[in-house]
Amino acid sequence: MKSLYLVGNWKMSGSRALIEAFASSWSLAQDDSLTVAIAPPAGYLERAVDRFPGGLGVAAQDCSAHENGAFTGEMSAQMLAELGCAMVIIGHSERRQYHGESDELIARKLVRARESGLIPILCVGESDAERRAGRAQSVVRAQLQGLSAVSRGPLWIAYEPVWAIGTGLTATPEQAGEMHASIRSELAALWSDDGLSVPILYGGSVKPDNALALFSQPEISGALVGGASLELASFHAIAEAALASRRG
Ligand code: PGA
Repeated sequence: MKSLYLVGNWKMSGSRALIEAFASSWSLAQDDSLTVAIAPPAGYLERAVDRFPGGLGVAAQDCSAHENGAFTGEMSAQMLAELGCAMVIIGHSERRQYHGESDELIARKLVRARESGLIPILCVGESDAERRAGRAQSVVRAQLQGLSAVSRGPLWIAYEPVWAIGTGLTATPEQAGEMHASIRSELAALWSDDGLSVPILYGGSVKPDNALALFSQPEISGALVGGASLELASFHAIAEAALASRRG
């Protein structure tokens, strides 16, 4: 039975009240092969760690590429680990787009995350123009090249086609499955057998009504969920779909 991974990315949304809603109402059948976490904004991380029930982990949305020092506004991976985060999202397309993050910077963040014992969740994905130009796979392969400079170790990948994020458009299970297979072969080329065990999540308008079809794709190891993670009921329904995908 394959392991599944589900992360809700609240981006710059959510509130203390939403943390409390998840804290008081989240409950899911215990299943050791399903990992579920929420990535709230940095200011809520500690509260989430304190309040969330067992079975609902906490991830950060970003970390600094620096270890510590005079970098106003940044949070180090070590600080995130100290707060109790288990994972950190790295290289989200919104960081690449609005903060000019390069593959090289992202690779340095990944190293910092690993050094601090966090699991980096590396986001990759092509734009609409790149897909239309037939370049989707080459763009994603290029984004993975930063990995050649880092050692093997804990890592999750999130394939998030930029055109599917927050748009209501979702890659079809076949499109996602095809890209995931391409990412898998890239990882195997880099790290041989170790590349085969890296979970590859899909992200981009994952909702309760498309989650089961996505999770049922053999190459899809879970989901990075944005908008639908801001509602307890819909994120819970996606987690239920993850459980159901293994029963079916
Ligand atoms: P979405 O966001 O589910 O709202 O499309 C996904 C993401 O950006 O991680």
